[in-house]
Amino acid sequence: MKVLKALPGKHWLAEYDETNTYDWKDAEQYFSWATTGKVNMAHEAIDRHAEGERANKDALIYFDGTTEQRFTYADMKRLTNKAANVLVDAGVKTGDRIFIFMPRSPELYFALLGALKVGAIVGPLFEAFMEQAVRDRLLDSEAKLLVTTKALLPRVPVGELESLEKVVLVDEDVEESDTLLDFRKAFEQASDVFEPVWLDREDGLILHYTSGSTGKPKGVLHVQNAMIQHLMTGRWVLDLQEDDIYWCTADPGWVTGTSYGIFAPFLNGATNIVVGGRFNPDFWYSVIEKYKVTVWYSAPTAFRMLMGAGADVANHHDLSSLRHVLSVGEPLNPEVIRWGKEAFDQRIHDTWWMTETGAMMICNYKSMDIKPGSMGKPIPGTQAAIIDDQGNELPPFRMGNLALKTPWPSMMRQIWNNPQKYESYFFKGWYVSGDSAYMDDEGYFWFQGRVDDVIMTAGERVGPFEVESRLVEHPAVAEAGVIGKPDPVRGEIIKAFIALRDGYEPTDELKQEIQAFVKEGLAAHAAPREIDFRDKLPKTRSGKIMRRVLKAWELNLETGDLSTMED
Ligand code: PRX
Repeated sequence: MKVLKALPGKHWLAEYDETNTYDWKDAEQYFSWATTGKVNMAHEAIDRHAEGERANKDALIYFDGTTEQRFTYADMKRLTNKAANVLVDAGVKTGDRIFIFMPRSPELYFALLGALKVGAIVGPLFEAFMEQAVRDRLLDSEAKLLVTTKALLPRVPVGELESLEKVVLVDEDVEESDTLLDFRKAFEQASDVFEPVWLDREDGLILHYTSGSTGKPKGVLHVQNAMIQHLMTGRWVLDLQEDDIYWCTADPGWVTGTSYGIFAPFLNGATNIVVGGRFNPDFWYSVIEKYKVTVWYSAPTAFRMLMGAGADVANHHDLSSLRHVLSVGEPLNPEVIRWGKEAFDQRIHDTWWMTETGAMMICNYKSMDIKPGSMGKPIPGTQAAIIDDQGNELPPFRMGNLALKTPWPSMMRQIWNNPQKYESYFFKGWYVSGDSAYMDDEGYFWFQGRVDDVIMTAGERVGPFEVESRLVEHPAVAEAGVIGKPDPVRGEIIKAFIALRDGYEPTDELKQEIQAFVKEGLAAHAAPREIDFRDKLPKTRSGKIMRRVLKAWELNLETGDLSTMED
């Protein structure tokens, strides 16, 4: 099948025949490997446009409420070249893991794309992470260099990280040392000419740490080849056209912020808005108004918070530039879709995917009839199904495991340092997502919940084990079990059940102290919003806390089979 070109006034995929399977080979014509056999994400995303018709088009517009900075594709090419030269001078080599731990700013994007030009594997870290979360990730990946700020540096246990050779600080007036490097100074002096390191399609691109229900966060490795799917979903699903002003609200610390905050928009040569600062309904609407945002990709929690701020706030702004609005990360309530129609006359399009899938998998396209509450249909060239625990496909309306036929272009290629874990995701030719869902008789998929204990709070994925491990490090905590409790705004909040050590009293002060302890160790979003003290927690005979029983306690449900529970 030939790739359809967006026709003036028409959407990508408008003429897509749903019975057709897309041959991903067809997309190869858009990348340099079609001519040279080699590729580099930063070249395809930036340089290619800078060397062509889009040279003077705005690529990145950064705005934090007070300052605005604009960079064309030509600017981005020069500035990412400079960053690449800085990193090479600092000793970075192809395949090294380079972490970026800082709030959103243009420098974050220069450093990230510069690292990709060198052929490094980038590990982005959300700025809210605290010491233990930072340590776990840098240790596991054996990171060689970290780009960060003075303010965040105290959370980096540099002395304990053997592989970490250099820390690059992006602030003004950095006092340099053997390990500390002044980014701005080096950047000033660096050449703006750089030949990207040419890579194979299966070479590393990005390493996102994400949570499961057991163990520490896992490093999900994506490779250069993922760009095929970033490019095509940018067309098919985001429906990016030449004049679009695109805004993805996710932070690059999470997969949405890289795949759709960097790769998909730049691969498509779009104008990409990056907003710094904190969420605030009035500010967010003002961004749409100021920049005449046309395509907007955000998350249910944000939409619910905007909805909660009331129609008045929305009505103060001209939001008529919006032509396509999309959502990811949590179930999108039909109520929110109705509100979107009222507040800015757009139907919010849900998309489903995961860190592990690397790119969108099940989506509502612009040209398709939305069924509010459904995640949509698999994108062309992929196949999704509901399977039972034996790997058999289930018929429509039967609930089961949401699974994807392997492979697809942006599928994860490794769990860092853990091949056994990687294998465990795959079963009889399927990738098993950990979500439960059903498919209706028209091929639309409907999300039902997580199969495991992973918590989705305000769109952020938190593993209960990581929180429990931190909790039991507190001197007062003997045992802890953590669950997601349904919440009307955040989807779920984190709730901890705690049994105290002898000699500790279950007071409110202690609750607050424990909450602060988790915040300081992991991140604010990982701290339990609610804590219940209990004398004893339900455990299996082998000593595992039964979160299922905690959940049943919380929701007043039947506790189910308790045969494995200790007396
Ligand atoms: O449970 C699903 C939920 O988010 C999980 C993946 O989280 P993460 O790897 O952090 O990636 C989030 C953004 C790509 C999934 O297993 N999820 C994601 N999208 C949806 C969703 N749940 C319901 N509806 C969605 N559209």
